[in-house]
Amino acid sequence: MKWDVFNICLFLLSLCNAVRYEPNWKSIDSRPLPSWYDQGKIGIFIHWGVFSVPSFSTEWFWWQWKGSPPVPGVEAFMKDNYKPGFTYADFAPEFTAEFYNPNEWAELFNASGAQYVVLTTKHHEGFCNWHTNYSWNWNSMSTGPNRDLVGDLADAIRKYTDMRFGVYHSLFEWFNPLYLQDQANNYQTQKFVESKTLPELYELVNTYKPDLIWSDGDWMVSSDYWNATQFLAWLYNDSPVKDYIIVNDRWGNDSRCKHGGFLDCSDSFDPGTLQKRKWENCMHLDKYSWGYRRNMKIDDVLSMVDLLSEMMETISCGGNILINIGPTKSGEIIPVFQERLRSMGDWLKVNGEAIYGSVPWSHQNDTVTRGIWYTSKKGPEGRIVYASISSWPEKDQLFLGAPKPTASTKVTLLGYPQQFEFKPGPSGGITLSIPVISIFDMPCQWVWIFKMEGLKN
Ligand SMILES: *[C@@H]1O[C@H](CO)[C@@H](O)[C@H](O)[C@H]1NC(C)=O
Ligand SMILES: *[C@@H]1O[C@H](CO)[C@@H](O)[C@H](O)[C@H]1NC(C)=O
Ligand SMILES: *[C@@H]1O[C@H](CO)[C@@H](O)[C@H](O)[C@H]1NC(C)=O
Ligand SMILES: *[C@@H]1O[C@H](CO)[C@@H](O)[C@H](O)[C@H]1NC(C)=O
Ligand SMILES: *[C@@H]1O[C@H](CO)[C@@H](O)[C@H](O)[C@H]1NC(C)=O
Repeated sequence: MKWDVFNICLFLLSLCNAVRYEPNWKSIDSRPLPSWYDQGKIGIFIHWGVFSVPSFSTEWFWWQWKGSPPVPGVEAFMKDNYKPGFTYADFAPEFTAEFYNPNEWAELFNASGAQYVVLTTKHHEGFCNWHTNYSWNWNSMSTGPNRDLVGDLADAIRKYTDMRFGVYHSLFEWFNPLYLQDQANNYQTQKFVESKTLPELYELVNTYKPDLIWSDGDWMVSSDYWNATQFLAWLYNDSPVKDYIIVNDRWGNDSRCKHGGFLDCSDSFDPGTLQKRKWENCMHLDKYSWGYRRNMKIDDVLSMVDLLSEMMETISCGGNILINIGPTKSGEIIPVFQERLRSMGDWLKVNGEAIYGSVPWSHQNDTVTRGIWYTSKKGPEGRIVYASISSWPEKDQLFLGAPKPTASTKVTLLGYPQQFEFKPGPSGGITLSIPVISIFDMPCQWVWIFKMEGLKN
């Protein structure tokens, strides 16, 4: 957004509540994003539901089994392991969540350094993880956990941490007869939206007062069918969360990557260039699924270098990163995910200065050396520029093409007290001298960040 006079006036007016958003995209898109989201940069995404019971293939299990066309491996899995006549609904009582400890989850997510958490309240299977009035038996109070999974996590996050709490919600449901009826009517009727989707969204907002609504399941039909702009106008004008709520862009096939709050575009969106609007890279630690898979192999899990490099690329280009883990049906977050999240937290303790509250620099990656991503911040004496590298230089020199040094330029490594020597490059840029650093003095592993002060640019 350009902070021209018009937008500043709009913002000031919105402060005194004089601006009312209209139910159209132009008006909805004009709302400034509350600043907590861009400042926070890192979120944790949790895919948890009845699909966590078979925990095979992906969270799309039901569709892969009974949708069209079925996925042969999933059909065979059911044939080989379950009695004939077993239905997807029969999985629900096995969604036991007996080890679900929301306080432990909150502690873990907080230790990861993330600033917000987004939990699936309902995926495309339609199973509601909260105490809802709009599902009679397909929800976590009536079967399975017999517990308000959403409310319990929201409480723990708010009680024990400063993180923000968000709700993922799927607009459509694969097999809901009301949805299928609307679809068969070419979406000329809105029975499903009126009796299910919208009541659920209002209920989630009024009950849990989320900081973020992560909408999904929008793509088969336009935002008009979902009454999306009407709902968002209420959310921004009159809801109890109007001052801090943030939403994404998945509100219909006309809205993705275009309208709403921040843009998620496609899953794992990572464009590698600066984007005009605030965006998010939602991605998964298990390379092949959002939901838990019992047969996940260690090589299927992103390494710390992969994770941190992707994070730096995303943030350099103005994005946030939303990192997904899938808990088990019993409510455990398996140790390999715990390890990745805690390692990230340790790394952020050293390097968080270059992440939280940072803004993109004039260059996102280096002009010459590959794999170097920049962020920047306003320092007490001018701009600070951070350069991240994902492999330690093999030689005793590292060339950075983008920075323009001055006589007062100072270069350090985050977490390492000494200043680095450098020479101006032959045609611009700087050549850093890389000293031998004892393994005991190395501030971190995987990705390192140089801090540059007093540059010309
Ligand atoms: C949350 O994380 C911060 C930063 O690491 C830490 O200072 C704080 O003690 C943590 N809170 C809890 C409840 O673990
Ligand atoms: C659910 O319905 C009951 C009865 O109409 C009502 O008292 C209650 O407030 C509703 N709960 C929510 C979360 O809206
Ligand atoms: C959906 O939007 C239409 C058109 O603005 C409106 O008439 C209708 O009442 C809305 N439905 C719900 C359930 O909000
Ligand atoms: C959105 O979905 C509707 C209904 O399926 C379809 O008629 C329309 O062409 C789609 N629009 C876009 C932009 O894909
Ligand atoms: C920097 O990123 C751009 C866009 O992704 C890419 O085309 C270019 O090759 C990268 N430059 C270097 C030196 O890697």
